[in-house]
Amino acid sequence: MKILDFGSLNYDYVYSVEHVAAPGETISSYEMEVFCGGKGLNQAISAARAGAEVYLAGLVGEDGGLFMDKCKSNGIDASCIRQIQGKSGHAIIQLDDRGQNSILLYGGSNQQMTKEYVDKVLGQFDSGDFLLLQNEVNLLDYIIDRAYEKGMLIFLNPSPFNEKIKACDLAKVSVLLINEIEGGQITGETDSGKVLDLLEERYPHTAVMLTLGEKGAVYCCKGKRYRQDIYQVKTVDTTAAGDTFTGYFAALLGEGAAVEEALQVCARAAAITVSRKGAADSIPAREEVDKFHIHK
Ligand code: RIB
Repeated sequence: MKILDFGSLNYDYVYSVEHVAAPGETISSYEMEVFCGGKGLNQAISAARAGAEVYLAGLVGEDGGLFMDKCKSNGIDASCIRQIQGKSGHAIIQLDDRGQNSILLYGGSNQQMTKEYVDKVLGQFDSGDFLLLQNEVNLLDYIIDRAYEKGMLIFLNPSPFNEKIKACDLAKVSVLLINEIEGGQITGETDSGKVLDLLEERYPHTAVMLTLGEKGAVYCCKGKRYRQDIYQVKTVDTTAAGDTFTGYFAALLGEGAAVEEALQVCARAAAITVSRKGAADSIPAREEVDKFHIHK
């Protein structure tokens, strides 16, 4: 079983600020750093560091060389990634003193997918392979339809949530990974229990992972609900915590782990990610996650 992650690759420009700028406000940052990120790259690195066989597909611009190095150093197969004219995607991230962030995306090459490219990539995968998707590339609905026809198991993290998600047939998704806000945007409900009830009713064949920030996560699958608390750590930067959880979860399910065990490993991995700065680079390797468990 292979994991194909069809997604975004961004350069993250991270500005450290005392607080995130309010509308109309001008503030100074006290540090600026550039990291490799993008939900596609982060989730691919997470699944690979968890131990899975990962393939990343996506489009980078003329400035995209660093992404290839990142894939290589993480053992990710990057042969599906194409370099095109123009700029790679990037994100402008304000990171405040409490480790909370605000993210502005520029799609760049991530928004240049063509149907011909999608078909070519998916042609290299088979029924039963996992497909990891987020909402930072164009043609998401097309990718879902084609992958479903092939019998791939689709993991969708519909983030950032927007109108494009409404064009996607969520009944074709095997595992939907959302946070509370996205749960509300999809269902119109604010109570997490009701969000899950509604999604279960609408998409009975789709398992749902609902992350609840400080309150942990609930996984709803085949009529059963599994709860997972967070591991408390000093928060330095929450960027890529959700991506860590998603990538680890796909990898763990792929290796046949029980849901309870997978959830615990994911929570430990995400805790390590929030305890350090950056996106892709902050995601821990499996060894570190296992040790974190022992020393807690
Ligand atoms: O989920 C975190 C990611 O969101 C960042 O790396 C940024 O690039 C945006 O895609």
